[in-house]
Amino acid sequence: MKLQSVRGTRDIYGDEAQLFREIERQFSQCAKIYDFQEIQTPIFEFTQVFKRSLGDETDIVNKEMYTFEDRSGDSLTLRPEGTASVVRATISESLLRDLPLKLYYSGPMFRHERPQKGRYRQFTQFGVEMIGVDDPVGDIEVLSFAWNFFKSCQLDQKVQLEINTIGDDESRGLYLEKLKSYLEKYKNDLSEDSQKRLIKNPLRILDSKDQSDQKIVAGAPTLADSLNLESKSFFEQVVNGLEKLGLSYQLNPLLVRGLDYYCHSVFEFTTTHLGSQNAVLSGGRYNKLIETMGGPSTPGVGWAAGTDRIALLLEKPKKPHHTLALIAATDKGKDHRFQLLDELRQEQIPSQMIYSGNISKQLKKANKRNCSYALIIGDDEIERGTYELKNLLEGTQETLTKSELVSFLKKQDWGL
Ligand code: HAM
Repeated sequence: MKLQSVRGTRDIYGDEAQLFREIERQFSQCAKIYDFQEIQTPIFEFTQVFKRSLGDETDIVNKEMYTFEDRSGDSLTLRPEGTASVVRATISESLLRDLPLKLYYSGPMFRHERPQKGRYRQFTQFGVEMIGVDDPVGDIEVLSFAWNFFKSCQLDQKVQLEINTIGDDESRGLYLEKLKSYLEKYKNDLSEDSQKRLIKNPLRILDSKDQSDQKIVAGAPTLADSLNLESKSFFEQVVNGLEKLGLSYQLNPLLVRGLDYYCHSVFEFTTTHLGSQNAVLSGGRYNKLIETMGGPSTPGVGWAAGTDRIALLLEKPKKPHHTLALIAATDKGKDHRFQLLDELRQEQIPSQMIYSGNISKQLKKANKRNCSYALIIGDDEIERGTYELKNLLEGTQETLTKSELVSFLKKQDWGL
């Protein structure tokens, strides 16, 4: 049997690997500007960490988790998302004594979903969690961070922010009753999935992709009409804050999100460039999650973005990684090259040797390997103490001493 990667997993290399690095670089730079600190949590946790937090009836817990028993008989799960792990860490590391916590993270997540473009079983997320701020400024700040990230990647024209409120427990409880009694009337016309959700998780019927469900939902009572004063005022403050900062948004009254821990603001940055997997960043407020997981009652708000999807939106990297090729013309040249290569690398000049072939073959390989310069080293060059530096992009050539060579190469933009 030919070995291959597991369905829904991918090897990331070349241009795409460079895009991943660039996304992470822009994200961690934004994190510094917004004063968030990095946290790294394990890739797997006790299964309870996710079961307790995400909700027993969510798709993730019900059918998407990679859960296994380890050799000690413990039930472990590969993390399907970052929020539950971060919250678990803040409790077990006693970080909640010093609030607010502004944390950021990135890394692989695992969900057993049906793979398609932009949806994988192992994917990369980066995200932020602001813990201990119950004021709407927290929501506004994390959304401003998200917009700034998209601006720094020049993606702000390709995404839009959709936002909604699902209110506090009281408002949502009231709404769920109204929604259920409305949907009961159309029970038999709902899709199979939605019929199941009617019993276990009726809110999710609002964002069903099924067309006949959508027709039924169009006549349903709205969440906005069930909001109590506090929930209404909270959301108004969030939206006003966005307006004050000039951050554009669209209200989407059907946005409810697929995880149980949310309350008040829920939001998604979507794009029209990716087909059906159109959410590139999503999140919301979670004021009960920390308590549910055994910590003190502490509010939180945050989001996570899909690196794989954002990489699909970006142009191929403009500046390929250029290097200098060291080409040996003789055996002596080979020896000399070995040492010179080391000296150049110590000076932070990206350089490589072409391992085999005569001069013209080595030059051809250098061109293929994206080298912008080539240095040919033969016995004459070693004797004279000067080098012939070829500019492979322009076809010019210059004779330089070693110190001239080093100072010239150090001044070049290598895209490091
Ligand atoms: P989520 O909506 O499940 O939220 O995932 C966040 C983002 O991860 C999505 O918007 C999408 O870009 C990406 N994503 C999700 N599943 C996949 C997949 N199978 N393949 C590729 N990309 C995917 C959360 O995970 C929450 N923890 C967000 C959050 C943080 N809420 C508060 N704080």
